[in-house]
Amino acid sequence: MRVLSGIQPSGRLHIGNFFGAMRQHLQLQAEHDCFYFIADYHALTSGPSPADLAQHTLDVTMDYIAFGLDTEKTVFWRQSDVPEVTELTWILSCVTPMGLLQRCTSYKDKVAQGLSPNHGLFAYPVLQAADILIYHSNLVPVGADQKQHIEVTRDIAIRFNNTYGQVLTVPEECIIESVAVVPGLDGRKMSKSYNNTIEIFEPEKDVQKKIMRIVTDSTSVEEPKDPDKCNVLALLKLLAPEDELTDWENRYRSGGMGYGEVKKRLAELMIDYFKPFREKRVELENNIDYVKGVLASGAERARAVAAKTLADVRKVIGVGA
Ligand code: ADP
Ligand code: TRP
Repeated sequence: MRVLSGIQPSGRLHIGNFFGAMRQHLQLQAEHDCFYFIADYHALTSGPSPADLAQHTLDVTMDYIAFGLDTEKTVFWRQSDVPEVTELTWILSCVTPMGLLQRCTSYKDKVAQGLSPNHGLFAYPVLQAADILIYHSNLVPVGADQKQHIEVTRDIAIRFNNTYGQVLTVPEECIIESVAVVPGLDGRKMSKSYNNTIEIFEPEKDVQKKIMRIVTDSTSVEEPKDPDKCNVLALLKLLAPEDELTDWENRYRSGGMGYGEVKKRLAELMIDYFKPFREKRVELENNIDYVKGVLASGAERARAVAAKTLADVRKVIGVGA
């Protein structure tokens, strides 16, 4: 089964990205033929500075390698290194009804958030469809926010196949929901756009300070607390062993425990959990040529598959003969 997903290079990854997406991507490597890429042409739709776009691409690549990307088995590359994808995007555009794109909520959401409504932003789902279809992907693990784009991809593939013959693989409905939405420091969903994140690889001291700032309710130390309504405990659940978690839940309910205590434990667990990866990440920062080499060899492998699909597509539409 071919598994494919794209990751936007929009900065260093945070705890929400790790538990909500990256960890699943890495787990899938054991059983599937995984294709993962950095979606830099998608990121371009929101107008990043050239320096940021280049740096964030390397940052995300280092994050994945540090966490155990299997660079031998898994194909990992930069979207823009495979120009066949943008050619397929044009071809698919010509079987994509305007109405299909007009119904996409992510375009409307991004414009509502203040992004300039450029054509790339509008056509974003067609590039995503090309990403998925050019590699004959079967399973596309994404968050719920991307579900509509997968449906658009299926729709485009079916239209193409009905018009020209069965060339494209229609991906399965294949949303992998994240374990749970990881809350940020203020209790809303952890997200770059809310400025409430804990980055995986920020300095340990900053991780500690941020954890001490997590918003909690105003119950006093003596009062019992509701373990199901606490942002600190929601994060602790991602890291603490089962029996320790039960102990904390009991202590919440019986009172006599302050939030400072559980925050300290959370900081300890989080720093310990990420420590070995942090060391690997620093090694990679000092070996950028290796990181670029991973992207280059991924691009070569991805391109071989993409070129074959594009040749098949060009043939059936009547060009290049
Ligand atoms: P952000 O909201 O910080 O911009 P993205 O939208 O770029 O993050 O998310 C990239 C991936 O990480 C997506 O698959 C998304 O579902 C997952 N993700 C992001 N934030 C969270 C979160 N707080 N909890 C769970 N998963 C998340
Ligand atoms: N749009 C996706 C996101 O914002 C990233 C992406 C681009 C993608 N192309 C893809 C995801 C293809 C899955 C498959 O998260």
